[in-house]
Amino acid sequence: MSEIHFNKEKGSQIKLFTPGPVYVPERILKEMSKPNDTHRSKPYAEMHQLVEEGLQKLLYTSDTILISTSSATGLMEACVRNLVKEDEKALFFSIGAFGDRWYKIGVNNGKIAVKESVEWGKAITPEVAQEALNKDKYSVVFIQSNETSTGVYNPINEVIPVIKDSGALVCVDATSSMAGIKVEVDKLGIDVCLASVQKALTIPPGLSVCSISSAAIEKVPQVKNRGFYFDFLDLVKRNEKHQTPATPPIPQIRALAAQLDYILNHEGLDKRFERHIQLGKRTRMWARDVNFEMFPEKGYESNTVSTMKNSLNIDIAKMVSTLLDKGYRIVNGYGDLKNKTFRIGHMGEITIKELEEMLKVLTDIVSNLRMSQ
Ligand SMILES: Cc1ncc(COP(=O)(O)O)c(C=O)c1O
Repeated sequence: MSEIHFNKEKGSQIKLFTPGPVYVPERILKEMSKPNDTHRSKPYAEMHQLVEEGLQKLLYTSDTILISTSSATGLMEACVRNLVKEDEKALFFSIGAFGDRWYKIGVNNGKIAVKESVEWGKAITPEVAQEALNKDKYSVVFIQSNETSTGVYNPINEVIPVIKDSGALVCVDATSSMAGIKVEVDKLGIDVCLASVQKALTIPPGLSVCSISSAAIEKVPQVKNRGFYFDFLDLVKRNEKHQTPATPPIPQIRALAAQLDYILNHEGLDKRFERHIQLGKRTRMWARDVNFEMFPEKGYESNTVSTMKNSLNIDIAKMVSTLLDKGYRIVNGYGDLKNKTFRIGHMGEITIKELEEMLKVLTDIVSNLRMSQ
């Protein structure tokens, strides 16, 4: 039985198969524990620049890269505050909890926010996008690549060209897919592509990153009431010196610089994306073999997080807690989907072998729960 309580000496021994924060290997934790100079020093600026260059390669872009001392929600709010003028309309596509969150950020910031949603489990297709865009003129459009609550991956390679044709700026929340699923920022013309680092980038939480296009940067001065902490102009200006306006989580940035080097030069991007494709496929095969239906519509299943319907009608909370006793954490469904679905995260550094070991244990737990029904 693994340690499931706070352990002052050893830390958590649980292997996380979660949609973030994810399991972080020792090599990254060690990187975080190295001593650092201050955030106004030359060594810091060099490290910051390594992160910028690494993320440009990861996102296939020459756009500016910003580093934010916040989780992804902070950058989601920054996009709303910095890019939508008070008399403009913003369109928020929502296919689940995080699409709803972005819309709510729009509303709470007093913006003219319009939400276009589809039934949870479905994706925004180019047809759905076109229909929504035909209804009105929008200046900025917000969309998730991967919706972590439903395990749906929007077909952004087809949807973003439709949005760009409308003349709007487009912001993509790639939180639960960046570094797991290929996103080509320049090819698609994405204006802001953001994520926090505790998901497929595999860094402990506390930091988020984004690319930002010159068109987006040029718009910022026209927008009033941008606030202070998340003012893109301030972030961009400081970034020119490879710094952040306020004190950043330096250990996370050090770890991210090392992790990007690992991703780009050790594992390699193609191999990394292929590993995530295989992790997704293997999880869906397991679900089929055990008789759990996938929650997402066929063809739109995510390769970083799988959401399964509770089609066996078993006690999901018990399944999750029994697996936890064996040293692995998966998670129940999100919000209203609790007990109706459950989720397995398979992103970051998880290998096929590790996934299979966990699924083997989970299969036994599911059979026992079915027998005791
Ligand atoms: C798709 C998506 N967007 C946004 C968020 C919010 O991220 P954070 O918790 O880093 O603010 C999450 C978190 O799970 C997410 O999965």
